[in-house]
Amino acid sequence: MGISAAIILAAGQGTRMKSKTPKVLFSIAGVPFIRRVMRAAKATDPRVLSVILARTDEKVTPVVMSENPDTRRVVQDQFKGTGYAVQCAVDQLGDVFGHAEQGKFEPVMILAGDMPLLDGQTLTAFARDYENSGSLASVLTTRLSNPFGYGRIVRDGEGNVTSIVEERDATDEQRAIHEVNTSIYLFDPAVLKEGLETLTSDNDQHELYLTDVIAFAATKGRVSSFEAPDPLTVEGVNDRVQLADLAQRYNRRVCEKWMREGVTILDPSTTWIDDSVELARDVTVLPGCFLRGKTVVEEDAVVGPYTTLIDATVHEGAVVERARVQQTEIGKHANIGPWTYLRPGNVLDDDTKAGAFVEMKKAHVDHGTKVPHLIYLGDTHIEHDSNVGGGTITANYDGKNKHRTHIGAGVHIGAGNMLVAPVSVGDGVTTGAGSVIRHDVSDGSLVFSENTQHEVKNWLPRYERSDANWDYGNGRPKADEQPGADSGDDAWHSDEGTADDSQAPGADQKNK
Ligand code: UD1
Ligand code: CA
Repeated sequence: MGISAAIILAAGQGTRMKSKTPKVLFSIAGVPFIRRVMRAAKATDPRVLSVILARTDEKVTPVVMSENPDTRRVVQDQFKGTGYAVQCAVDQLGDVFGHAEQGKFEPVMILAGDMPLLDGQTLTAFARDYENSGSLASVLTTRLSNPFGYGRIVRDGEGNVTSIVEERDATDEQRAIHEVNTSIYLFDPAVLKEGLETLTSDNDQHELYLTDVIAFAATKGRVSSFEAPDPLTVEGVNDRVQLADLAQRYNRRVCEKWMREGVTILDPSTTWIDDSVELARDVTVLPGCFLRGKTVVEEDAVVGPYTTLIDATVHEGAVVERARVQQTEIGKHANIGPWTYLRPGNVLDDDTKAGAFVEMKKAHVDHGTKVPHLIYLGDTHIEHDSNVGGGTITANYDGKNKHRTHIGAGVHIGAGNMLVAPVSVGDGVTTGAGSVIRHDVSDGSLVFSENTQHEVKNWLPRYERSDANWDYGNGRPKADEQPGADSGDDAWHSDEGTADDSQAPGADQKNK
């Protein structure tokens, strides 16, 4: 026996999330709820995979269709509850429900879209259990120490399921039940169709409850239940408190899985790892890290503390400390950080360095090259065994277009350089400190650009000048107000451009 259709409810407003984002688009471990539920449902191999979406939905549809283009969309036109949502599905999936006769058709599976950790194993075990039950309906249940907010499973004296009662409609006695409805069901399609027609909104929320179809089915025949082996996989999220709780418990498991694979994680409570991440053995992850997307970290690499890797590849033995790295490849034994910002599109080869307050975007740094302090490289290729002086930037943007900088091998870029792209610096070049490189430089050259040093002796800032201490006639401070008055009148030179070695410690050597 197979599953005729798996129908996922995803039209709810998610009011309790208090968000402009639909609830089923929230994520845990990088996977939106709706995708995980769709993947789990797909694992039961249903003939039809269907998602119920609100008429007004714009955001969920593209995610659903990108996850599985064969998905049959059902449109729910009014917010009248889970029972109404499934009525819409019955009306719109004629091939599933049109000719359904009790006991003759394969069951339909109904699922809620707000179960962020649902997996295929749980659902296939549920379907297998139903197959041999001879039931008209079955509900997937779980036992929670705190069942607050869930529908409770009500049974008769013989233990048969008779109904599901919502928290807000339950008696005190029913609220004491810890076995809850996960919002996943298998139904004989004819019984479901008939049961939906009997629903009324005679409840606290004045909605049509899908759960009431269980009570209907119990009047027609047997209703069974299956307890999910792992409660975490079937818990729902209605608000952000539940989201944080589930995310944390799931993350703990993900970290434990990696630790068992040979990854050292110093503090699992502050290490967040997406499902799509791959870590090799002997990787070390220090506290405060977010490893996201298609990030891969190879053997002996050390990541963290306080590092975010998004779709990044960190090769063997590299160290990445206090950095944010996105869509960037970091070569073997490279040394990144602390406080390094690698934006998308960089490739740093083996044995490279990107140090403190370095930002890169679309930069290719060949092996052995060092980019150590306070540097910006954008749209740049720098060849092997070069060094970039602190405070250097590539000026890659002219206000409209981006331009490329090329720096050859064995180059020494001096401190505080400005490379105005497009520009190319040849192999073995040395550039002087503070140079502005606007024109291509040929191999083996020394290049520097002049900037004249001016010195004004014993200068007083404007706020220190007053009629009392300023000699307007001579355009200078009065003699007794001069700083360093000991050295007498000669200490004051207002003629710009004259450097006076004797009065200027650290004056430019060239002026000697
Ligand atoms: C529901 C169940 C409750 C169960 C709990 C498990 C009912 C009446 N109650 O309550 O017994 O313990 O799930 O988490 O079913 N949806 C629609 N259209 C609607 C309303 C909801 O598609 O008009 C979708 C939502 O997007 C959501 C799912 O149905 O994915 C469940 O709705 P929600 O409002 O979260 O139900 P709960 O109050 O959690
Ligand atoms: Ca819910």
